[in-house]
Amino acid sequence: MLAISRIGVLTGGGDAPGLNAVIRAVVKSAANSGIKTVGIEDSFDGLLELDRSRVLIPRDVTGILRLGGTILGTLNTGNPISSEVNTSEGPRRYADRVIEMFHRMRLDALVAIGGDGTLAISNEFCALGLPIVGVPKTIDNDIVGTTNCFGFDTAVAFATDAIDRLHTTAEAHKRIMVVEVMGRHAGWIALYAGVAGGADAILIPEIPFDIGLVAERLRERDKWGAKFSIVVVAEGAYPKGGTTSLIEAAHGRTAERLGGMGVQVCAALGRETGKETRSVVLGHLQRGGAPTSFDRILATRFGGKAVELAKRGEFGTMVAFAPPDIVARRMADVVGKTKTVPMDFDLLATARALGVTFGD
Ligand code: F6P
Repeated sequence: MLAISRIGVLTGGGDAPGLNAVIRAVVKSAANSGIKTVGIEDSFDGLLELDRSRVLIPRDVTGILRLGGTILGTLNTGNPISSEVNTSEGPRRYADRVIEMFHRMRLDALVAIGGDGTLAISNEFCALGLPIVGVPKTIDNDIVGTTNCFGFDTAVAFATDAIDRLHTTAEAHKRIMVVEVMGRHAGWIALYAGVAGGADAILIPEIPFDIGLVAERLRERDKWGAKFSIVVVAEGAYPKGGTTSLIEAAHGRTAERLGGMGVQVCAALGRETGKETRSVVLGHLQRGGAPTSFDRILATRFGGKAVELAKRGEFGTMVAFAPPDIVARRMADVVGKTKTVPMDFDLLATARALGVTFGD
């Protein structure tokens, strides 16, 4: 065990339900080991100035287990590490400033909670000597090395509820309802919410779709009397021979923003089937609200394990869920990769067996 007395904790990337549960677990388990936790605001930017962090005691995190968002704030603006930044002490190289302030704040370890972007930045800081333990978070569930990220279950639960609601109105009006869900270049949310919500077609980035085949399947439903249909479209899905739909291309430190494929699929299905169609984009609603009990437990286990790894001096690691255990992975082994839905996943085969089309 290392003699650690101060741990920093930060949240980076898009928020996900369960971030506060991790912060709470870190603060409480550290405090019970005699370690002070310093909460750093707005991802690594909070390490640029001394007034952008605060000591967190258990009292500060009481009651946040069930809250969405993050009490520390977060940033989703790409990798700043090699940029120049203006500080209260003049312009500095971002990486140099963060490392200098980490030591001035007398931190012994850092718990960085974030998605692939934050973990990639953390991995670079590890290589520059900062002692970091990563905690994977994303509603997209696309981080390699962990079966689940917290936030995913909550997003799926929300999307499933939305699909349930759309079912009744779709049936009443004999319409095709198209639901666009998040997930970036992975189809996990679409697949899980689609199956849980009983969708008739699920379009995911891993399987480029043929709109003609989707329409054919929906026309078949009409023939045997099911006059309505539900189509779930992942924001990163795209047609065979086509491309993903972007709201905004990547520029500078800002990542690309996916979106719009639901509307396109909706219009195409209207043309192909002659039926009335409507589309709904669930968007950021999937990231809001209270975490499910599953996500609270996973987030709590991740936070506890992160402190344990820091106490053992196991830096450059990421906590991960390998059911039934919480394990440590080397951060370098997971960054820069995307965990997509594997083609041999049994849920794909089961959904197909039940008559769900993926448009292929
Ligand atoms: O990675 C989480 C996520 O919600 C994606 O599913 C989505 O594409 C993206 O973030 C949206 O990012 P922003 O909040 O920057 O619009």
